[in-house]
Amino acid sequence: MRSQDMDRRARAVEKVWDKEMLESYDKHMGKVEGKEQPETLHYVAQEKMFHALKEKFGRNVVSIGSGPGNLDGVLLDNDRLVTMVDVSKIAVLKAYEKFNKYDGATFSHQDALTMRFPGEIFDTILFCNAFYYFEADERDALIQNCKNLLNTGGKVIVIEEFPFKITMEKKEADAVLGVHYNDISPDKIAAIFSQNGFVLETREKIVIDKTPEHDLYGSVFELAGAY
Ligand SMILES: C[S@@+](CC[C@H](N)C(=O)[O-])C[C@H]1O[C@@H](n2cnc3c(N)ncnc32)[C@H](O)[C@@H]1O
Repeated sequence: MRSQDMDRRARAVEKVWDKEMLESYDKHMGKVEGKEQPETLHYVAQEKMFHALKEKFGRNVVSIGSGPGNLDGVLLDNDRLVTMVDVSKIAVLKAYEKFNKYDGATFSHQDALTMRFPGEIFDTILFCNAFYYFEADERDALIQNCKNLLNTGGKVIVIEEFPFKITMEKKEADAVLGVHYNDISPDKIAAIFSQNGFVLETREKIVIDKTPEHDLYGSVFELAGAY
């Protein structure tokens, strides 16, 4: 794909997510301050996933499609340095408002397909509820770009729910998610990374809820032959 096309797509994606971040994302996916019971159990599942994979997260993490930084806040609280990258300016602003008090937080408004961090290298690349957003013809370029950012022995962690439970009306989902409410199974994610030179090291499953059951999967990949 030519980079001009990518730019056009990234701008369209940004528009969708700017709107979503302003309107309702935190209500569904975030930690709701002052509320005992969150509206959904996504955030709780993400916290549990962090604890299940705690040892796998290196110190210097880049979080791709970080949104308002839900899991990134958990990482910052657990002594990680986190660079939050998002194509939505509103998402980056929201993350900044929440986390600029942390010395270890960095905010970056970039398209993950073309992102650059001159002179920096990371131990862990995280996709949390974000990998599904990249289309089939973008994934190889995305993973190649990730390889360029990783330390020897570094890992990619993909946290993604499966199957999706879309509670919105179809019309609303079309408006909010565009074509992107196609979930990707953890086996398919492993196959995509394997085609791009990674091996699956570990996979964890956390149940989000049971009506009907949908789960959060955390897959840890490392580069084949990295050691
Ligand atoms: C479902 S949200 C996930 C947010 C957060 N990681 C979480 O778990 O709550 C997906 C995010 O990916 C971002 N995104 C989509 N395409 C992107 C791209 N090409 N580059 C960077 N961010 C992108 C969107 O702007 C959105 O904030």
